[in-house]
Amino acid sequence: MEKNQPNTANHGLNMSHYWMPFTANKQFKTSPRMLVSAEGMHYTDIDGNSVLDATAGLWCCNAGHGRSEISEAVSKQIHDMDYAPSFQLGHPLAFELADKLCQLSPAGLDHVFFTNSGSESVDTALKMALAYHRANGQSTRTRFIGRELGYHGVGFGGISVGGIGNNRKTFSQQLLQGIDHLPHTLDITNNAFSRDLPPHGIEKAEILEQLITLHGAENIAAVIVEPMSGSAGVILPPAGYLARLREITQKHGILLIFDEVITAFGRVGEAFASQRWNVTPDIITAAKAINNGAIPMGAVFVSNTIHDTCMDAPEGMIEFFHGYTYSGHPVAAASALATLAIYENEQLFARAKSLESYFEQAVHSLKGLPNVIDIRNTGLVGGIQFSPSDKGVGKRGYGIFDHCFRHGTLVRATGDIIALSPPLIVEKSHIDQMVNSLADAIVAVG
Ligand SMILES: Cc1ncc(COP(=O)(O)O)c(C=O)c1O
Repeated sequence: MEKNQPNTANHGLNMSHYWMPFTANKQFKTSPRMLVSAEGMHYTDIDGNSVLDATAGLWCCNAGHGRSEISEAVSKQIHDMDYAPSFQLGHPLAFELADKLCQLSPAGLDHVFFTNSGSESVDTALKMALAYHRANGQSTRTRFIGRELGYHGVGFGGISVGGIGNNRKTFSQQLLQGIDHLPHTLDITNNAFSRDLPPHGIEKAEILEQLITLHGAENIAAVIVEPMSGSAGVILPPAGYLARLREITQKHGILLIFDEVITAFGRVGEAFASQRWNVTPDIITAAKAINNGAIPMGAVFVSNTIHDTCMDAPEGMIEFFHGYTYSGHPVAAASALATLAIYENEQLFARAKSLESYFEQAVHSLKGLPNVIDIRNTGLVGGIQFSPSDKGVGKRGYGIFDHCFRHGTLVRATGDIIALSPPLIVEKSHIDQMVNSLADAIVAVG
């Protein structure tokens, strides 16, 4: 297309200048999917069609869309004080929010550092792990252990500990040094169509002992995993696996980081997945649903030991040389406080738990449809995996996603896996609609 020539097929928009993230740009621009408004469980697209949101945006909008409590809080805050510098100055809302968040976080993780995204939360957590060991007199502990298929955002730290090939390959010569990976826990041969945590695979945690023998515990700073991998396609921890990782890390003085960017704030029926699976790490990363996706914001929760050790610097010295212009941004903080109030007033985490078995039945009803090779679920998360089509890996998943969208339901495709993660305000009738829409798409796409 000529520069600055609007493509009239696209509602008069010039599509050429925006380089879209994690998107097949050329394909999208010939056949866009454009959203213009949102309310409750639905988006409206640019042609006026209603689209049921089966993905809470991008795992963000747990309280549903168009929440006036949030928009009013944002509007008031931007009017009262649009911005406050975050270094050597504070504002009350950031402290109030930290206080509220630490009432929700697992006991012992009573300190929070604010970021603007999941990627920044991850990089912050990795830096905190290094800072802690150094302050603790163990500065040889610099290695990190991630996991295959892990997704920890797109910063250099995050892609280095992450385990998704496509996100790493282009940058492979410049990834952080001193990283190793645990094997992933996806095992369709033994665990296909399990409900909630799969029974097989706890032994994969034992590989950590091998990596520790190989590298030396005294050289390892932290292990980072998602308690449940969302982005790689809803990969669940085998029963007992997370607890075993905790035992091994604790035994060797290695920090355990849970990346809860998608699981925090009710997705699995508790405030944090750590609470659902009763395993407390040393650091938790969060973002997304912290403020219903309204304003970019992330958070890192740290143990009292890490915090107190890092604070042990001479009076008047900055203790941690790290932070963002927008850490604890007043408008983001206002939106988060309003969001947490909704979660509490409407008991949305408990609601997710109460709908879980209905949701589980519904997604597992897709078993037996063409090319469905596995279905996984926990909380209000479902993953349906398909065999790849002859046209190539990911084509079937994309086809199903696109068909669902064009027929009024937003699902998420990762390769040949479709993920469902509806807002926690979802009704049973919406769950039925999601599953029916998926069933139609699965048959139509073939
Ligand atoms: C587990 C996990 N960590 C980190 C991120 C990165 O978050 P962001 O896209 O906000 O940087 C994501 C995003 O989906 C995620 O799922």
